[in-house]
This record gives sequence, structure tokens and C-alpha cells, in this order.
Amino acid sequence: MNRKYRKTLIAGNWKMNKTPTETKAFMTELKGLLPKGRWCDIALCVPAVCIPAAVRAMRETRVGIGAENCNPNPSGAYTGEVSTAMLVDAGCKYVIIGHSERRAMGETDEEVNAKTKAALEAGLIPIVCCGESLEQREADITEEWISMQIKLALAGISEDKIRKVVIAYEPIWAIGTGRTATPEQAEEVCQLIRTVVRKLFGSKNARATTILYGGSMNDKNAYELLAQPDIDGGLIGGASLVPSKFVKIIEDANQPTA
Ligand code: 13P
Repeated sequence: MNRKYRKTLIAGNWKMNKTPTETKAFMTELKGLLPKGRWCDIALCVPAVCIPAAVRAMRETRVGIGAENCNPNPSGAYTGEVSTAMLVDAGCKYVIIGHSERRAMGETDEEVNAKTKAALEAGLIPIVCCGESLEQREADITEEWISMQIKLALAGISEDKIRKVVIAYEPIWAIGTGRTATPEQAEEVCQLIRTVVRKLFGSKNARATTILYGGSMNDKNAYELLAQPDIDGGLIGGASLVPSKFVKIIEDANQPTA
């Protein structure tokens, strides 16, 4: 982390977990545990049907609510889809884009780019995900793959919008497996991402970009990961479903930084 130049963000990704009723109970418990004082930005990205309950419960807090996906089109015949304007109107501040689980369902780099632009246009903060598979890491093409994903995701985004984008590095082999990247492995790729952003948008913008690590981050390993200079927060799956664990990670983000 480097709080002098950029925001720290601890974001939860609930994936397909919890009902609206369970959301309300979770948020009530979380509110009771949140540390006092202003430490870092906090987000919870929840299933679309849970957004109203989450927004209602967290209205008076500093926890921002987010969605897990969006459709880039403004409206129309897209059965089952949710637009960025709908998310804004429902009270969302964030939206996760290009998660590897969605890419595995067929989402392309072009769609990730279109969704990122639509989110920015609507005033949402996109959390744009990238990450390599185990095969790619073992074939030593992580650097090329991540650079490509970032370049395609951010293509055509204007310089005045880039600072609103949050990037999340989530190695696929570390998601939901309990096998976290080591702090050094995670730092290496987050640093690479910042270099790619620097080449595209200049050093001031790169220095101001928040880059998260995700993949089995939990209350036990977060401190060490967050101590890395280019890891500005976490995108947390499993551990964000348990209020006490999520709060511990928020507390770990309150460590001294350079
Ligand atoms: P886990 O924290 O459950 O590994 O999930 C990470 C993730 O995919 C967050 O988007």
C-alpha cells in the first residue's frame, strides 16, 4: 500500500452467496464490528437481488455497495441483464468487471472493455479483474497475459477517467483454492500492472491507481499481502462472507506504510 498516493480499498465479492434476508443480517452484524475512524475504503459487491437490502442497511456507513457484473448497453432487449444506470439508481458505487468466473462463462476482453467504459460513463467505480491460469504461470507467460488483459480492458479510456478505475489481480489458481500467491508473487504482478498503466496513461496516473490482490486472501494472510508497496487492497471472496474475518482484513489495512 502507499496511502500517500492512492486509496486503499478492501472489497468483498460475495459471488452467488446469500439471500436478501441473509444480506440484512450480515450487514447488521458487520456494522457492529466495523472499526471506528476513517481507515480505508470498504466495498461489498453482492448479487443483484441483494443490492437494495445492502444499500438500505449500509446507508449511514462508509461501506460502498457494488454489483458483480453489468451490461454495457443502456437499455433494451437483453433478457436477464442489468444496466449501469439501474445499478446507480439502486445505490451502487462499484461494479466488478471481468472476473475470471465470468470470463470462464464466455465473457471476452472486448466485453470487459465495453463494460468498463459504460461503468465509468455512469459514474460507477469499475473493479477490473485480470489473472492468469496455472498453465499460463507454469508456461511463464504471466507477464504477457496480464499485460494483454490490462491493455484490452483499458483501451480507449480517457486520461481523466483512468483514476476512477480499480484493477484487481486475481491469479485463477489462487481463487477459492486456499492456495494464496505469496506476497512476492502478488507484488511482482501488481507492480507489472502499474508499469502497464504507466506506459498507457503516464506516471502520475499509474502512481494514483489502486491495484488489489484477490485469491484466497483472508484474515490470516492479508497483513503480509497488504504490506507490499503495489498492493493497495484486496478483493475478497470467501472471507468476505464472514463479518469477523472481513473486519480483520480491514484492520490489517491500517498498518503503517512507506
Ligand atoms: P476467494 O477469496 O474465495 O479465493 O475468491 C477470490 C475472488 O475471486 C474474489 O473476486
